[in-house]
Amino acid sequence: MCGIVGFSGKREATPLLVEGLKKLEYRGYDSAGVAVLDNGKIDLTKVKGRLANLEEELKKTQSKGQVGIGHTRWATHGEPSIVNAHPHLNEKKTIAVVHNGIIENYMELRKWLGEKGYKFVSETDTEVVPHLVDYYYEGNLLEAVMKAAKRLRGSYALGVICTEEPDKVVAVRKDSPLIVGLKEDGNFVASDIPAVLSETREVYLLEDNEFVVLTADGVEIISEDGKKIEKEIYHVTWNADAAEKNGYDHFMLKEIFEQPKVTKDTMTSRIMLGEDIKLDKINLTKEQIENIQKVYIVACGTAYHAGLVGKYAIEKLARIPVEVDIASEFRYRNPIINDKTLVIIVSQSGETADTLAALRLAKSRGARVIAVTNVVGSTISREAHDILYTWAGPEIAVASTKAYTTQLIAMYIIALHFAKNMGTLSAEEIEALKKDLLAIPEKETEVLEKKEEMEALAKKIYKEDDMFYLGRGFDQAVAMEGSLKLKEISYIHSEAYAAGELKHGPIALIEKGTVVIALATQEELFEKMVSNIKEVKTRGARVISFAFEGNTDIENTSDEVVYLPKVNPLFAPLVSILPLQLLSYYISIAKGCDVDKPRNLAKSVTVE
Ligand code: F6R
Repeated sequence: MCGIVGFSGKREATPLLVEGLKKLEYRGYDSAGVAVLDNGKIDLTKVKGRLANLEEELKKTQSKGQVGIGHTRWATHGEPSIVNAHPHLNEKKTIAVVHNGIIENYMELRKWLGEKGYKFVSETDTEVVPHLVDYYYEGNLLEAVMKAAKRLRGSYALGVICTEEPDKVVAVRKDSPLIVGLKEDGNFVASDIPAVLSETREVYLLEDNEFVVLTADGVEIISEDGKKIEKEIYHVTWNADAAEKNGYDHFMLKEIFEQPKVTKDTMTSRIMLGEDIKLDKINLTKEQIENIQKVYIVACGTAYHAGLVGKYAIEKLARIPVEVDIASEFRYRNPIINDKTLVIIVSQSGETADTLAALRLAKSRGARVIAVTNVVGSTISREAHDILYTWAGPEIAVASTKAYTTQLIAMYIIALHFAKNMGTLSAEEIEALKKDLLAIPEKETEVLEKKEEMEALAKKIYKEDDMFYLGRGFDQAVAMEGSLKLKEISYIHSEAYAAGELKHGPIALIEKGTVVIALATQEELFEKMVSNIKEVKTRGARVISFAFEGNTDIENTSDEVVYLPKVNPLFAPLVSILPLQLLSYYISIAKGCDVDKPRNLAKSVTVE
């Protein structure tokens, strides 16, 4: 997730911008830049990598200007590089723009601007903005930004400066955070409060479609229809540490709550009703898809669990056989691979050593490789033939939550895309599934309202030594992930099983009071699952079931039932995992564990 800072005031802008950006480092970034207005021109400095590199470069620029914008970029469109770093300029170098978010219709706008003679130098979606502002500029920057914003679809927070109006920063937000910081000797705009906390505690919290004009002497907030808005000043009472977590106690909780947004982001511009699925970095032709004889999904940990959902989805919808492999096994078991094999590599970080080795092995044997990863420019993204980026933003808590849900979205998108090309689903069926998938973020928001319910449940079971997670079909895959979350952050031993496997051994472990989490979202398998619940119940288990609203029959066999909003069972993992994440989180809290940094674990496993 990128970070924006802008300043207009009576002090040198550069050090203030850099200090602000440093406070946004927690958001993650891979390149950075600032643009400062000085003596009628824009001084632009951009670097790849850390802010320390930017500080080095800025020593050369030595800009003394008092108005500027700065940015840390987390790459989504185009790899991390100087040219893709923000700020972006118009051709005349009179307008500079920083942007957070994703502009959905940037391809369309690029084409339109291209026809008008505008030339693009970067691969970013953002670069359409300085050109659009340039196109609409007739002596009033605010008006030009307002007109440009009308053309944008998607999410954005923008900061804009212009040499013709050297006292101003113009900014706007839509579905991407932006605040204004107020001080006597200058005013700030930033994507998050920590960026301004060392300068001021007086802020305006901007709403969607509010425009801001920042000068040294004041701040004007204007609605999209041009009316001045009076806003109350919000006095920040919390410290920078709490601010980084957006008020949440831990990054993990913050990331759990980001899931409706990142689920939506990952579908953005790819799944639209009435349009073909758009996967700009997957170049497999219809013929190549038809020729696939076997798909391997290869990954580790949580990403592997996303792969299990991928297998069910691809086999169900596209009828192509899929095997899911743990990367450290796959790489050493001499898998049968040829040029009719497709390997889907799933990795949040894009750097996991075993997963990367599996990718290299698959390539060397002639397989086509698609990478599903969250990090643009990561080794895995660079080495794969095709890429589907998850747009989860940086994940800071060690235990993966939002990366997993976006990996699930990637799996469903691939399954639908293959189904279309294989002709296994009709156009109407695909359209109906797209509609169900697009409805998921709202349902996720609903499930997250179960926060207190999960907290209360956690308090009842946090002293357990062992727990079991059971499910069938998609629920079994989610059981695996739910159980991993519990182990990782609460250190409680747990096992996940396909419910039908129980009587083949593990049921011997069930005794009076053993906690069993039973997932029962799959309509076709509901009765079978209820029978499995009865099996453990009669052996004394304490059963906590998760089922869709309305399936009240399950209450007869369970000690407690957590009801989930009804969704297409195919997409159930996207909602059923959320309460399991919350449950693990609150159990970890109740036990006094270090939630964000669990013992023995690292965020990125770059050694074998
Ligand atoms: C669990 C977790 C790990 C990772 C695994 C793979 O919460 O985060 O199991 O999923 O180490 O990492 P990536 O996806 O970066 O390859």
